[in-house]
Amino acid sequence: MIKALILDLDGVICDTAHFHYIAWKRLASEYDYELSEADNEALKGVSRVDSLILILQWAKKEISPEQFEQDLLRKNSWYLDMVEEMVPKDLLPGVGSFVESAHKLQIPLALGSASKNAQTVLTKVGLLDAFQTIVDASQISRSKPDPETFTTAAELLGVAPNECIVFEDSLAGIQAALSGGMRAIGIGKPSDLPGAELHINNLGEYNFADFQ
Ligand code: BG6
Ligand code: MG
Repeated sequence: MIKALILDLDGVICDTAHFHYIAWKRLASEYDYELSEADNEALKGVSRVDSLILILQWAKKEISPEQFEQDLLRKNSWYLDMVEEMVPKDLLPGVGSFVESAHKLQIPLALGSASKNAQTVLTKVGLLDAFQTIVDASQISRSKPDPETFTTAAELLGVAPNECIVFEDSLAGIQAALSGGMRAIGIGKPSDLPGAELHINNLGEYNFADFQ
């Protein structure tokens, strides 16, 4: 029996996955590397530090530890400049009605995000109060595809992993949900998100009649 729904943030609730891409692409160009959409697929759900490690590998570039820290900060400030402009209408299609349906049916919602900016983004789009539990990068030590983000959310909600459905736009996130013993619904194409039991384009396509 399903008792809770756990949502990823970037690319599921709002289009911040695209902002991450723009900011990483700008940084990668400084390493003379053109970050592609396919590269970006592999960065979805991956922590900030691990993303930069991957980009440096692809660019075959070595930088000092000081430069590494500085570049993480610069990327994040470019990202936050875009987040700053966000308003509630920047929610992805169907998010408002999805949250409303869950509340009406009294299904607890949790957020499970790899981002350190999760609370900032949720505040900008007016959804900070929509979740019973918010788990972000500050509360976990192992990032997706490790299941810790989602198992922590389930623990905080007081439900078992197999009583949760996770909604994710990243392969790392789908893998995290499945290895945590949860069900996983992919927001995106089956070719990008193998393993998910169902693929939809956005939360608005989720049919609460199929909930159990
Ligand atoms: C994930 C995104 O949600 O958070 C990744 O899919 C991002 O692209 C990661 O790198 C970390 O986010 P932040 O906001 O802490 O840099
Ligand atoms: Mg995501």
